[in-house]
Amino acid sequence: MKGKKPTRENNATLLRQSMLRRLPRRVAARGDLMFAAVPSLLDHYQQTLLTIFASLGRVFNDDEKAHLRTLLDSWLKKGWEQSPYTRLAVHYETDEPPKTTISYNISLNVVTIADEYDHWAKTRTPPLFGAHPDAKVMDIALAQGDPSACPVLDIGAGTGRNTLPLARAGFPTDAVELAPALAKLLREDAEKAGLSVRIFEGDATNPELGLPKDYYQLVILAEVIASHFRSVAHVRQLFEIIAGSIRPGGLLVFSAFLALEGYKPDAVARELGEVFWCPLFTRSDFDLAMQGLPFDRISEESTLDYEREHLPPEAWPPTGWFEQWTGGRDLFDLPPGRAPVELRWVTYRRK
Ligand SMILES: C[S@@+](CC[C@H](N)C(=O)[O-])C[C@H]1O[C@@H](n2cnc3c(N)ncnc32)[C@H](O)[C@@H]1O
Repeated sequence: MKGKKPTRENNATLLRQSMLRRLPRRVAARGDLMFAAVPSLLDHYQQTLLTIFASLGRVFNDDEKAHLRTLLDSWLKKGWEQSPYTRLAVHYETDEPPKTTISYNISLNVVTIADEYDHWAKTRTPPLFGAHPDAKVMDIALAQGDPSACPVLDIGAGTGRNTLPLARAGFPTDAVELAPALAKLLREDAEKAGLSVRIFEGDATNPELGLPKDYYQLVILAEVIASHFRSVAHVRQLFEIIAGSIRPGGLLVFSAFLALEGYKPDAVARELGEVFWCPLFTRSDFDLAMQGLPFDRISEESTLDYEREHLPPEAWPPTGWFEQWTGGRDLFDLPPGRAPVELRWVTYRRK
């Protein structure tokens, strides 16, 4: 017995929907996306790609979703290990009609700190980090007494915003700088100014760098842990090196982004902090990094407040980005004073 003949569809809405379901056969697209390689954003990135693909009529089934997730997970982790400035590159292309599938591949665009600063040196107008030394650095150095008896080490010296004024004030001044493009500018400016600055070019956490033992009265890191240090273990490596180079009674001063009022940064905040050049730490992170090392913590204060109060009015603001960055607002898109972190000066004394 023959089945009942289907009736012809006549509903305009259903007909329109049925035609739109065929449309992906006539849609072609290709594109490239770049994402910061942040492993804790796996869900977010997976959803973003699924949404983009679905908008082209390429809706993934569960197996395809799982495959995308596995690939993303592995590439994000690989990229993150290399550097927080690494970008995940996703290239996608719809397959030849009448197929309604999409092909994509994922790769890494690895960018190091040295690459970033090479780009700064080529594209930005100096002075790159401001024209004036930090008030905190100069105040603490000048409080040490006779400059000639106070050797200073400026780690992550950049182009010498603090190094050169310290040397000019008579402090025997050494500098460590990782980025070759910046070390070159520093060397040239020191020579031009006739200042004798010893420059160690390389990574301050490398024990082979050759820093002198028990020598410095003052070690400074201005905007260095604050911009580029990646973890408690990384800071620990640095503190161990400094402990060997600073003399008993000497001071260590650094700026860092600290979590305020009980805020506990989660993995996303910590990872994005690195991406936005403001890695987040808690006070207990620094306690842990200092554990067993011969230092006493002696002070801590807001960098923004200190510098605003002590820099000469004509030196304010130090750069166009200083107030937003120090207030944690490069990471958190919130009004001034609302971010749960800020840049702080932290001072330790070597026992
Ligand atoms: C934001 S800049 C600050 C430069 C300078 N201290 C100032 O305040 O003007 C950070 C500097 O730290 C350097 N740096 C980052 N990590 C470093 C490391 N592990 N060893 C040595 N230098 C480092 C960078 O290359 C860069 O010059």
